[in-house]
Amino acid sequence: MIISPKEYYKLLVRTTVVVTTISRRGISNAAPFSFNTPVSFNPPIIVIASSPEHDTWRNIKENGEFVVNIIGEDLSDKIKILERDYPYEVSEIKEAGLTEAKSKTVKPPRIKEALAWIECRMIANHKIGDHILIAGEVLHVEVKDEYFNGKFDVEKAKPLLHIAGELFAIPLARKVERAR
Ligand SMILES: Cc1cc2nc3c(=O)[nH]c(=O)nc-3n(C[C@H](O)[C@H](O)[C@H](O)COP(=O)(O)O)c2cc1C
Repeated sequence: MIISPKEYYKLLVRTTVVVTTISRRGISNAAPFSFNTPVSFNPPIIVIASSPEHDTWRNIKENGEFVVNIIGEDLSDKIKILERDYPYEVSEIKEAGLTEAKSKTVKPPRIKEALAWIECRMIANHKIGDHILIAGEVLHVEVKDEYFNGKFDVEKAKPLLHIAGELFAIPLARKVERAR
């Protein structure tokens, strides 16, 4: 079957993270992002792609900091609140009934109920197509102990992956032999 080039991303199942940022006046913001990927080991760099209209981008443009919160299936009922376009400086974390916790190296808070947190400082941004690519150097990473034992225990943590629209997936771990 041939599908439209505009629907290419529907074939790429992607980790759904929640990016938290903070306004100049110290009000938090949260939004789900599935356009996100690691792009460098050393230094560690992650890229997210944001619409230029988003409060997330407005905050990152102002202070350069963001937290990538990895969320599990248990927070799937919060997506519809986190993705809502509330007025600037209405905190989706609070609206979703989630808990803000202090980050270790950046001002934006983390979401306590998430599985893991990647604290970042923007090192570059570039408009590509209809999104802004935001590259963040990873400053600090933490994961809840019960989900990491040398490897991310995805079957226990159940990180949410986005397929398209209302469809999400949960990963199964499989060992595959690799060249050494
Ligand atoms: C599963 C999911 C993934 C999303 N991924 C992205 C994304 O990668 N980039 C983006 O700009 N918006 C994405 N969105 C839409 C934003 O989360 C949404 O527009 C949100 O209101 C933006 O919030 P903000 O204005 O507070 O930053 C996604 C929404 C959902 C539900």
